[in-house]
Amino acid sequence: MKIGILGSGAAGLALGSGLIRIGHAVMIGTRRPEQEKLQEWLHQHQKDGQLGTFAEAAAYGDVLILCTNWQGTKAAIEMAGIWNFKKKVVIDVTNPLDGKGPDKAGRLELALRNAASGGEQIQAWLQDAHVVKAFNSIGNPYMIMPRFKEGEPTMFVAGNDDLAKKAVEDLLRQAGWKDVVDTGEIEMSRHLESLAVIWCAYGFRTGTWNHAFRLLRE
Ligand SMILES: NC(=O)c1ccc[n+]([C@@H]2O[C@H](COP(=O)([O-])OP(=O)(O)OC[C@H]3O[C@@H](n4cnc5c(N)ncnc54)[C@H](OP(=O)(O)O)[C@@H]3O)[C@@H](O)[C@H]2O)c1
Repeated sequence: MKIGILGSGAAGLALGSGLIRIGHAVMIGTRRPEQEKLQEWLHQHQKDGQLGTFAEAAAYGDVLILCTNWQGTKAAIEMAGIWNFKKKVVIDVTNPLDGKGPDKAGRLELALRNAASGGEQIQAWLQDAHVVKAFNSIGNPYMIMPRFKEGEPTMFVAGNDDLAKKAVEDLLRQAGWKDVVDTGEIEMSRHLESLAVIWCAYGFRTGTWNHAFRLLRE
């Protein structure tokens, strides 16, 4: 499958490399393809990896993944061209953090303060696309083929369109996620984004970044 990733930070590059590893073709969209880390990424993935503008990556992908810093997300979507998202499945990895960093308790603040969510906002910006929140409550090294000594982690997803969620679930299963939990419509992003705040707070408080959430059932 052709996947367009908007965002060239740690999450975008890890997803890009991992998705190529499991057989997909990826174009990463960025404003600055000349960055050394991106040229290195391109060099490592010459066969199935490409770099492009946000618009080129959005036009390229059958499925699109939004991996931008929250403060730049609206601008990135505008640069990508709203028409390039039409009828596509858009996986929203973003967390709408206010960018101020952790407080003394290791708590990051959500810019939308639980009155809305990044997922809902993106679905509102992209009314003709099917937005599915996923990958936002796990660290980038574990996004593809996650392995944890203590067991299988859970990937929580949310979105309005059942077919889009099924497509994302299929991709997640192919990417090694054995437990995928559909939490409901895109409004549930509020809670999935709070889960990311808890994930980060645990990291800041313990200085470890190798944890994941799991839903246990009897
Ligand atoms: N890092 C993780 O492990 C992780 C895990 C889960 C969720 N997330 C979420 O995933 C998203 C990406 O995180 P990240 O750590 O990979 O990288 P990041 O540093 O948060 O974001 C990098 C990307 O955002 C774009 N960007 C920044 N400001 C912009 C602006 N004004 N206009 C357009 N684009 C702009 C950059 O574009 P250029 O390429 O053009 O510079 C770059 O592609 C975030 O929302 C984060 O909360 C990250």
